[in-house]
Amino acid sequence: MWFNKRFLNKISLLLVARQSFGTRIFRAFVSFIVLVSSAFTFFSVYSQSREVEQNLLRKGELLAKLLASSSRTGVFAENRDSLRDAADGVLAQEEVRAVEICSVDNRQLIGEQKTLSQEKIPIALTQEDKEIAAKLHDSLSWEVTNDKNTINVYKPVTIETVSSMGEALYFDVVKNKKLEQIIGYVKISLDRKVIRKEVRGVFLKNLLIGVIFVFLGIIVIYTILRRVTKPLTRLAETVRLLGKGTSSEKIPVESQDEIGKLAEAFNAMTEDMRKREEEKLLIEEKLRRAEKMEAVGRLARGIAHDFNNILTTVEGSLFIMKKKLTDNLPLMQYTEQMQKSLSKMRGLVHGLLTFSRTQIGHLSPVDINKAIKKLMPMLKSLAGDTVEVKILLCDEPSVVLADPLQIDQVLMNLCTNARDAMPEGGVVTIKTDAVSIAEGHPVSSLFIRPGAYARISVSDTGTGMDEKTREKIFEPFFTTKEPGKGTGLGLSIVFGIVEQHKGFIDFTTETGRGTEFLIYFPLPLNNHEKQVVGTE
Ligand SMILES: Nc1ncnc2c1ncn2[C@@H]1O[C@H](COP(=O)(O)OP(=O)(O)OP(=O)(O)O)[C@@H](O)[C@H]1O
Ligand SMILES: [Mg+2]
Repeated sequence: MWFNKRFLNKISLLLVARQSFGTRIFRAFVSFIVLVSSAFTFFSVYSQSREVEQNLLRKGELLAKLLASSSRTGVFAENRDSLRDAADGVLAQEEVRAVEICSVDNRQLIGEQKTLSQEKIPIALTQEDKEIAAKLHDSLSWEVTNDKNTINVYKPVTIETVSSMGEALYFDVVKNKKLEQIIGYVKISLDRKVIRKEVRGVFLKNLLIGVIFVFLGIIVIYTILRRVTKPLTRLAETVRLLGKGTSSEKIPVESQDEIGKLAEAFNAMTEDMRKREEEKLLIEEKLRRAEKMEAVGRLARGIAHDFNNILTTVEGSLFIMKKKLTDNLPLMQYTEQMQKSLSKMRGLVHGLLTFSRTQIGHLSPVDINKAIKKLMPMLKSLAGDTVEVKILLCDEPSVVLADPLQIDQVLMNLCTNARDAMPEGGVVTIKTDAVSIAEGHPVSSLFIRPGAYARISVSDTGTGMDEKTREKIFEPFFTTKEPGKGTGLGLSIVFGIVEQHKGFIDFTTETGRGTEFLIYFPLPLNNHEKQVVGTE
């Protein structure tokens, strides 16, 4: 048993480890989801904020282009009023923080900035502006600069001039060429706050999506893992309890997958182990009893032999005394008393010798059915008026090699006990049949040779026996009867006789319902049709 417990504990530990493995998988999955979701949020925010910036820049460029073209006349004429109108129109845009319009020689014609309260305040031309303006001269295109709070878009204000080129005098190809001439430039400063605001919005949106994704992911993984680990946890718990020996419950098989198969295999294994354990306990118990009976038998044999010798001496002496005391009547009475006691003593010694199997009788073929029928009147008178004796004999003759007197003794002892167990009356049923103990039958492995047996069943409807009584009934001098009513040798004698005939004895009993004794005597081969024990 300790081996099995250790084995079960090991499996339980393995499964518990699996449970923590499930937790580890859960953690790994959650980390993975959080990682994926964070990466997704980061890249999404990054690309979207880039797009916001690009859009803002595009808008800035468009506004700068528009301002540059609408300011052409104003710059040319240095008309600050018309330029202010155009600049105000651009400054009215939410994204625009400042507008500057300058002449080509870096004279600021318009320079306005929006404050937080949308007030317009003038701004000064910076050294950087001048440097950019110089670049615009060469490229005639855009220039964009970035600083902490703004994105600045510079666009040249140009007019077209037509010039006759020297080459045109010689070549007819190009007569007049349109030339763009820079007359000033505009600068639009775009507020980065707009980007930050939009990026914040994008970030929050993506964060929300990420959180929802992580949350849903956790729920899905938790549900899946729970489905997988729940049966495993239950399996581990059952195995743990089985290992402790506090439960013999079966593991529920909830699915047909690997876990279901594991549970099935485990159930089959525990069932197998339980059966083997039961068989082992049964055999151990029988062995223990057999050893005990053997020891008690040895003791009884020793005592009975010595008593027998002493009794012979005492009886001899008494015989001589009786002869010599023929005229002494008062003393004769004592010798009669002694004779009676000696006879009782002889009976006991005889019983002990029968129990210890030293009283081997003369064996001859005995038909058990006939023996029972012959003994019926005797059994009936033994049973008394309140107890009915029924016989159910098998049809075929059950001939065994036995001592007929001892067969009678067995039947009488069993019937006496049955009667005593039914003080209020009842029924004793004597049945016979033939059975065969199959090879591999649990009881056959240790004590009983497989083969054919004539079986006598003596059952009653009496008090039955409790666990304590059951343990000791075959021990000599064990009795539950009042002193003087029973010696406690009846079943010991039956036991001895059956053992002597190489048979065996079995019994079932239930308190308040009755007892059945089964006596098996080996049958000579091919004597009968046999029933296989356990398949009746
Ligand atoms: N059929 C039975 N029903 C209930 N108890 C029984 C039955 N047969 C035996 N017993 C119990 O087993 C005990 C031992 O029986 P056993 O026949 O060996 O001795 P006894 O009947 O007490 O005395 P004795 O047979 O020597 O007069 C009995 O005292 C009784 O408690
Ligand atoms: Mg008895």
